[in-house]
Amino acid sequence: MNSILKVENLKVHFTLENKTVEALKGISFFINPGEIVALVGESGSGKSVTCYSILGLLPSYATLKGKILFNLDGSFIDLTTYKDIRSIRGNKISMVFQEPSAVLNPLLTIGQQIVETITAHRNISNEKAKKIAIETMYKVKIPEPERRFYQYPHELSGGLKQRVAIAIAVVNNPRILLADEPTTALDVTVAAQILKLFVSLKESLNIGILLITHDLGVVAEVADRVIVLYKGEIVEEGTVFDIFDNPSHPYTKKLLNSRPSIKVD
Ligand SMILES: Nc1ncnc2c1ncn2[C@@H]1O[C@H](COP(=O)(O)OP(=O)(O)O)[C@@H](O)[C@H]1O
Ligand SMILES: [Mg+2]
Repeated sequence: MNSILKVENLKVHFTLENKTVEALKGISFFINPGEIVALVGESGSGKSVTCYSILGLLPSYATLKGKILFNLDGSFIDLTTYKDIRSIRGNKISMVFQEPSAVLNPLLTIGQQIVETITAHRNISNEKAKKIAIETMYKVKIPEPERRFYQYPHELSGGLKQRVAIAIAVVNNPRILLADEPTTALDVTVAAQILKLFVSLKESLNIGILLITHDLGVVAEVADRVIVLYKGEIVEEGTVFDIFDNPSHPYTKKLLNSRPSIKVD
């Protein structure tokens, strides 16, 4: 199968006044369309830096080496040198973060925000954009989209806000969705519903999802493959079954022993 993203020997370090932090020490992995790849690891292992590297959102004092190859309509472009990353970010590659409030503007209705995301990348009328926005709200299972369209973020629960953030992320038909700890701020029941939504989106949209989490319970329920990151290096990689039945790295064993459980029906 043709991968949608191939990360090759990615190294990132941050140079601060008098010291260097090596955040990623040469990691390689791929994501295929229609699969959820979980990137797990303890706090500080380099998960978010991986995500920001792909998005081209590292700060200027970061140094990046290696390749991030993205399959753009059949041929690979290297995102680390690609000039027009803005046309890719939020469009072909989109993201969802831990805190939906961080991406939602409290002063705009959720409808306006979804519509703006569409019109930022496509030259279509507001009316057409509204239709697409409502369809997308259905897709991410926001109840009563026609009414919710006119609501403000503060009128929604945490779980619904995250669904709006996911609607914004998928409305332009991305090929890849990067989700950085998307359920960490939610209670267990709501978290399970959001994970179920990721599974349904990967199937209906055939997108590749990089699901970043420190919770192996999350992984067990939804991931097709797992990558375990430890101090900036990939220490283990395989299917959920490989890793859960036969963890090889001591760190993975430790993670498995401490795993809380989220159940997705
Ligand atoms: N903007 C930054 N400036 C300096 N160091 C950073 C920055 N972002 C991350 N780091 C460092 O890089 C390492 C990996 O961080 P991160 O990817 O955020 O970990 P996590 O796996 O918890 O998401 C950590 O040592 C962190 O302190
Ligand atoms: Mg992080």
